[in-house]
Amino acid sequence: MQGIESIIIENRSRDYVENRIRAGLIEHWAADLLADVGVGERLKREGMLHWGINIGINGELHRIDFKALVNKRVTIYGQQEVVKDLVARRLADGGPLLFEVDDVTVHDLKTQKPKIRFKHEGRPQEIDCDYVAGCDGFHGICRPSIPDGVLSVFEREYPFGWLGILSESPPPDHELIYSYTDRGFALYTMRSPTLARLYLQCDHDEEIENWSDQRIWDELHKRLGGARKLQEGKMLQKGITPMRSFVVEPMQYGRLFLAGDSAHIVPPTGAKGMNLAFADVVMLSRALEDFYKNKRSDRLENYSSKCLRRVWYAQRFSWWMTQIMHRFPNESAFDRRRQLSDLDYLTSSRAASTPLAEQYVGLPLD
Ligand code: DHB
Repeated sequence: MQGIESIIIENRSRDYVENRIRAGLIEHWAADLLADVGVGERLKREGMLHWGINIGINGELHRIDFKALVNKRVTIYGQQEVVKDLVARRLADGGPLLFEVDDVTVHDLKTQKPKIRFKHEGRPQEIDCDYVAGCDGFHGICRPSIPDGVLSVFEREYPFGWLGILSESPPPDHELIYSYTDRGFALYTMRSPTLARLYLQCDHDEEIENWSDQRIWDELHKRLGGARKLQEGKMLQKGITPMRSFVVEPMQYGRLFLAGDSAHIVPPTGAKGMNLAFADVVMLSRALEDFYKNKRSDRLENYSSKCLRRVWYAQRFSWWMTQIMHRFPNESAFDRRRQLSDLDYLTSSRAASTPLAEQYVGLPLD
């Protein structure tokens, strides 16, 4: 957009990235950003604005009213829909955007001219770069290309996972329900008024084969606790999401800048992953713009510390949402009473629910 040339390489196919089911909740500022950069048309038409969420405590629902508390909303719109919009825009702008590249390696990161080598349609290619943006996810090649000893790793595993389904049926409420129950956590969200996205807390090493469709529905009914009617539908997809918190510092090595999941993972509770990636990319694009337009590199130098402040806010929030909503294998009776009291306070006090609302809709970028 700023006239800075870039080449995007992606190792998956276009079909794969456009259809892979991921999160679907966009923070207030991020939906505005997508509109501002010219990829918000379909989002405006099809995205569902949510001005609150419901928190269930053993079947009793409490609404957190974002409009009243912070006057902001979130938008329900699938990540793969955002990807489709970005791909379409990029191709309409003339690319370049290469899919199904193989054998990607990055080189000379500490020099002024880092390189990317890869194979595309069987032919070896090399890109001479000024900068490399490592947006290749947790399992990508960029972070592991940084020499040992440079990065500090901060990590936490959770003793459970999420079993997620996509169902051709209406969600039980027009807003999300985060349901804490004695049987474990469940989340009732959606992709559209006729497409439900439903999650169940499950064991850490759960095998999807152990969950028949009927067992999933039975458990979803129980964890809704009668608060709403849950309509069953055709299951279009089911899978297990691991729960992990992960951060590397710094998010830069020479002329390689890590962005999104290549630098940090949050547990899904609160849906911060995609929003954090948007924030990193805004910071990086602003820094690059400042470099090319004004010959200033201080924003590039500050990229990591600027991003990490937000990353840690989101880490703390996602950890907090996760620990308040889930059952833990080794919890004591005291732990349970304290957790229930936390939820009671959170849903009864305006002072307690305001920080939830403020962070859930997304802290402003600056
Ligand atoms: C969704 C996922 C989340 O982890 C969350 O907290 C809210 C919504 C979703 O997939 O819609």
